[in-house]
Amino acid sequence: MAKWIKITEVEKIPAMGSRVVQYGDIEIAIFKTRDNSIFAINNKCPHKQGKLSEGLVHEHIVTCPMHNWDIDLKKGTALGNDSGCTNVYESKIEGNIIYLNI
Ligand code: FES
Repeated sequence: MAKWIKITEVEKIPAMGSRVVQYGDIEIAIFKTRDNSIFAINNKCPHKQGKLSEGLVHEHIVTCPMHNWDIDLKKGTALGNDSGCTNVYESKIEGNIIYLNI
């Protein structure tokens, strides 16, 4: 069953940037892309746990700041020749509030 957690206002996520929220033991990075899409992803790179929230956002991808792996923000998967996956969380916006399905 879906458990939607209220996170924050859309405006609080910087364009082409992220905010980190802690949910229990899980650190989740919420990203806003250039087209104003919102993505929520575990803040651990599937390579060596680099903080994806500190990465560079382009299209629907974040480039990890540690070794430049590209991670698909929708699926959590590494792109190109790299392989691995980190958890993603379904999000929705009601009014201007972001909710995550955790
Ligand atoms: S830790 Fe992210 S690319 Fe190595």
